[in-house]
Amino acid sequence: MRKKVLAGNWKMFKTQAESEMFLKGFLPTLEETPEAREIILCVPFTDLNVLSRNLHGSRVQLGAQNVHWAENGAYTGEISGEMLTEIGVRYVIIGHSERRQFFGETDETVNLRLRAAQKYGLTPILCVGETKQQRDAGEAEALISMQLKKDLVDVDQSNLIIAYEPIWAIGTGDTCETKEANYIIGMIRNQLTNQNVPIQYGGSVKPNNIDEIMAQPEIDGVLVGGASLEADSFARIVNYQ
Ligand code: G3P
Repeated sequence: MRKKVLAGNWKMFKTQAESEMFLKGFLPTLEETPEAREIILCVPFTDLNVLSRNLHGSRVQLGAQNVHWAENGAYTGEISGEMLTEIGVRYVIIGHSERRQFFGETDETVNLRLRAAQKYGLTPILCVGETKQQRDAGEAEALISMQLKKDLVDVDQSNLIIAYEPIWAIGTGDTCETKEANYIIGMIRNQLTNQNVPIQYGGSVKPNNIDEIMAQPEIDGVLVGGASLEADSFARIVNYQ
């Protein structure tokens, strides 16, 4: 049985004070959440410390949204794996489409970050997915296959999560049909050597579609943007039926 992994990606939202407010509302809602569900919050670097302190003793794990591949060095603005693990970070999102689109992330740098994350004891959440144009041109499967092929060179699949995030479904309210997401995730799984890698769906996941998404046999969890910012809605998502 692959584990279910429910992760929030706060992107560039929330100050430290707002993070603490969120936790006050969110943590008490986890009392009845089945133990087998892994719950992760991937937050801005500046919120990591305050979350690390406040999550101590809770079942929520801490995640970052990027990591550099070098151990240390003259890399202004970057954060290393050791800096993250030192403050209790366990997971890190790598290759999110927003980083690929706006910050020059390539499959080559994604691969470097994945290997560095694992080297420093972090579990990477690798994001892959196609644009609307690529989907309309029937190129989604080939594109995703190519991303996986390049991104996963020398990556340890026993310490990995993958998130399928169709770019056209991110932040648009335009969720990918659950059957289509299930199909693509099955296709991703066929390309992996380790069949136990949890594969998430991401893109306009909301309280009103989470039950249907999690009912799909290939989908092992979700990576949630907007709906992870409100304690109530993220609570409804992690407590899906
Ligand atoms: O990483 C999660 C994300 O890109 C999806 O965002 O706001 O559509 O849930 P959202």
